[in-house]
Amino acid sequence: MQVRKAVFPVAGLGTRFLPATKAQPKEMLPVVDKPLIQYAVEEAYAAGVREMIFVTGRHKRAIEDHFDMTYELEVALEQSNKLELLEVVHSVKPKDMECIYVRQAQALGLGHAVLCAQRLIGNEPFAVLLADDLMIGQPPVLAQMAEQFQEWRASILAVQEVPVEHTRRYGIVAGTLVNDRLMDVTKIVEKPAPEQAPSRWGVAGRYILTPGVMHEIATQPRGVGGEIQLTDGIAALLRREKVFAYRYDGQRYDCGSKEGFLEANVALALAHPQLGEGFRNYLRGLEL
Ligand code: UTP
Repeated sequence: MQVRKAVFPVAGLGTRFLPATKAQPKEMLPVVDKPLIQYAVEEAYAAGVREMIFVTGRHKRAIEDHFDMTYELEVALEQSNKLELLEVVHSVKPKDMECIYVRQAQALGLGHAVLCAQRLIGNEPFAVLLADDLMIGQPPVLAQMAEQFQEWRASILAVQEVPVEHTRRYGIVAGTLVNDRLMDVTKIVEKPAPEQAPSRWGVAGRYILTPGVMHEIATQPRGVGGEIQLTDGIAALLRREKVFAYRYDGQRYDCGSKEGFLEANVALALAHPQLGEGFRNYLRGLEL
């Protein structure tokens, strides 16, 4: 079964990135030359997803506009024969990709944001991508997970090993190892203290979930931080279905934090085909 739909929760408040996120969603912050949300959408597209569902909040306009036609810009580029740039603009939304927007009226938590897409998801498996986790992998991380989903036909959570002092930042899983990349999950806890963490496998912002998780989220009380947590919905799903944690092959940048965002910009600028060499020379010339 193919994963055809993806949910992008973009309604968070982005408080860790103020003041940049005062009047725009953090998912529109550019890393080098592309907004974070576009990296996530491209990753989903590369994994075969064609229906992109954005759960938006306040300041949704910038994201909608980004994936919409920009008529005046396209005419201007065409008239001045800037065809390469026109191609860049067109590639933001391939013709076979559909964008749908739903509104989360109040930021009640990630679980609640996902639940807002329930009717659009229906009875299909779906991906969830948190665009502030910028993932660089070859093949792209969601494509790696889609391959696992094809094999196991069960929910797949992206995980990475995290430093023990950082367990409070993640959902942490425990279970039985199937191989060196895959864990059959028996337990998941949201943001545990290091001494309560059942392992060091922390969930990163990529999920492939079976539709049953929606019912589980809907019946959860508020969890950590008074929010409706996706982790709690997955913990409930575990009692009915198999859930696997997949240790992806790739690099994650936490672009919801200022440090992670800066690291991503440096790494991607250095790897950029046109900018990389000049930027490397610039950095070498700095007296650090
Ligand atoms: P975060 O935990 O990063 O929260 O949300 P946040 O509010 O965006 O950022 P900080 O911590 O205040 O800086 C993880 C993801 O879930 C989305 C966010 O947009 C982000 O992609 N989210 C979170 C929602 O869409 N709705 C919510 O109610 C909460």
